[in-house]
Amino acid sequence: MKNAERNDTQPLGLDVGTSRIVVARARDGKQEYDTQLNAFLTLPYSKLAESLLERENVLHQTQGADIVVEGNDAGKFAEIFHVEARRPMRNGVLNPEEPLGLAVVKRLVTKMLGRAAAEGQKVYYSVPAAGQSVDGAIQHHAASIRQMLAELGYEGTPIEEGLAVVYGEMAGSNFSGVGISCGSGLSNVCLAMLSVPVISFSVPKAGDFIDAQAAQVTGERAHRLRVLKESGFQLNGFTADRAHNALTVYYQEMIAGLVRALRERMAAARMPPRLEQSVPLVLSGGTAMPTGFVEHFRKVLEAEEFPLRLSEVRVSEDPLHATARGALMAAMC
Ligand SMILES: Nc1ncnc2c1ncn2[C@@H]1O[C@H](COP(=O)(O)OP(=O)(O)OP(=O)(O)O)[C@@H](O)[C@H]1O
Ligand SMILES: [Mg+2]
Repeated sequence: MKNAERNDTQPLGLDVGTSRIVVARARDGKQEYDTQLNAFLTLPYSKLAESLLERENVLHQTQGADIVVEGNDAGKFAEIFHVEARRPMRNGVLNPEEPLGLAVVKRLVTKMLGRAAAEGQKVYYSVPAAGQSVDGAIQHHAASIRQMLAELGYEGTPIEEGLAVVYGEMAGSNFSGVGISCGSGLSNVCLAMLSVPVISFSVPKAGDFIDAQAAQVTGERAHRLRVLKESGFQLNGFTADRAHNALTVYYQEMIAGLVRALRERMAAARMPPRLEQSVPLVLSGGTAMPTGFVEHFRKVLEAEEFPLRLSEVRVSEDPLHATARGALMAAMC
């Protein structure tokens, strides 16, 4: 059923991720999610290919001499043809080297959201926090997504990804605590007190870094490492398997860098007095999913004194939807 047919004017949460785009909707007191891979690939145009794709209901567009296959179907086709799917985004923002990027994101968002049921319907959408790999690009990225939403009739409001995690996970602590999303292009962090961000930043090492580095040292394609990582990789020490060990090395490097950045940023900031009480730290995002991730994170965190008292360190129960859920909750507040 189309959005307009449901006449559903409720606010929406939208996570525009480097790897996945997720829409969150509230329905009957629960959240519903819709996800598309933020990826595409091109096939040479032929009438036959086009009609077969249409018959199979594959999301695609004809563009000059190419057929552009988009979203989840691009992932499936990349597997079949052993090619890397192209990515509209890199490091949490629109990829400046991908001329088709914005158009692909727009078609995916249009497919997932449809036109606004009422002009000005609210959408909160995730954006990265400032950090060394994205500074300067965030403004352009956020404005491009806002414009795209406006063209569909929505009023878009950006929300930093770490703050979205706080909204989605920390109702129990009055929206105070540290929300972290370990995604594909970036790890995003926000320390908030009573829903107000105190410190937020992003660091450039996340899932793509792990895949690319592990691929380089094993001589495999990044895509293969990614598939291995997503199918049951555990962060539980070294084994006889080269790929497993390479993933372990770069997972450990990513966690070490994240904890170092957390320590430095928290130590340098002037904490509001309320933060003398202990607060939760919640990890989310696909990169936080492997068994052993949170245990290793805790070990590194506990190895030295940490400038903030933490009541718990846990992984979200639904790490791939945490940002969209938080954006939805912020939109509904
Ligand atoms: N089960 C899993 N185990 C390990 N890694 C996973 C798993 N599922 C997904 N990932 C990894 O998580 C990353 C995607 O996570 P997520 O969807 O949170 O990122 P994103 O929001 O698209 O990116 P970003 O927030 O950086 O823009 C990818 O690197 C992917 O390989
Ligand atoms: Mg994300």
